[in-house]
Amino acid sequence: MSTVQIMWQRGRVTAVDAVADSIAKITIVTDTPVRPEPGSHVDVRLPSGDVRSYSVVSGGADGGSITLGVHLSPTSRGGSTYMHSLRPGDELDITAPLQNFPLRVGAPSYVLLAGGIGITAVSAMGAVLRRMGSDYRFVYVGRTRSAMAFLPELEELHGDCLEIHIDDEGTGLDVTTLVEHVDTRTELYMCGPIRLMDAVRRAWSDHTLPTPNLRYETFGNSGWFDAEEFVVAVPGLGLTTTVGTGESMLDALERAGVDMMFDCRKGECGLCQVGIASVDGQVDHRDVFFSEAQKTDSTKMCACVSRVAHRPSDPGARSAPGVITLDTP
Ligand code: FES
Repeated sequence: MSTVQIMWQRGRVTAVDAVADSIAKITIVTDTPVRPEPGSHVDVRLPSGDVRSYSVVSGGADGGSITLGVHLSPTSRGGSTYMHSLRPGDELDITAPLQNFPLRVGAPSYVLLAGGIGITAVSAMGAVLRRMGSDYRFVYVGRTRSAMAFLPELEELHGDCLEIHIDDEGTGLDVTTLVEHVDTRTELYMCGPIRLMDAVRRAWSDHTLPTPNLRYETFGNSGWFDAEEFVVAVPGLGLTTTVGTGESMLDALERAGVDMMFDCRKGECGLCQVGIASVDGQVDHRDVFFSEAQKTDSTKMCACVSRVAHRPSDPGARSAPGVITLDTP
């Protein structure tokens, strides 16, 4: 059950523009203007009643409008499909900007690191650092140039402070090199795929950099394996159900009538964690709550984002879904 009290308001879409492959820039005006701080996000209520979070890319000077960047996920559970269906004039239920990824003003230097759609969470931070004349590097990573939103605007605003790495142009990011050049007083803010953030966290730890100086935002939607259907069993409840590719294990257990604890639904708070009794397949830990050691032990997982993938030692069995058996949640 969520413990967060959130104020909802009506919003009206004023513009929808394609800004990269499968990424739409959506501008929304709201009833009660609130100027967004860098790193903030809004929650949007879908027609199904479910809630999704989207980073605020920018806000109007008077706080009356906000701009979101939304990637249409091939495994959308309804959120990005709904957002991409919006057209100017449409109305929606939306919160005022919420903050759980604040930029700390006053650090001697900064690194901003964005991977893919993670750019939406850090681009406003870059604008603020630019305006303040801060010492910063803005590192933007993507698979292809056409999949990277807001590139022209970022190049114009940040000039030499912007560093672009594009996999299919042979300029992919070397995380070790990036972290090697970070000193102990630098703060690094990142948002991107879990693999990228895991690599940075490992390098950060290897270089014994101060843990509080590494800050990140995740929407817990990418893993080591593509999302596959799998079976979850809870013998203590006499329950077995299938988790589809477009839903989370938390969704599936709730649908089956299990009273689950949760809060963020983004793999951050750990409230939805469940105990693993056994697994036929491989747990794809997609959260940022558990440590590397805990993920290796794999005795628990975050039901809101983590999944089960086929057995890698038996690729021929890929059509057989993984099966996970849980201790009673
Ligand atoms: S609900 Fe927060 S980690 Fe799953």
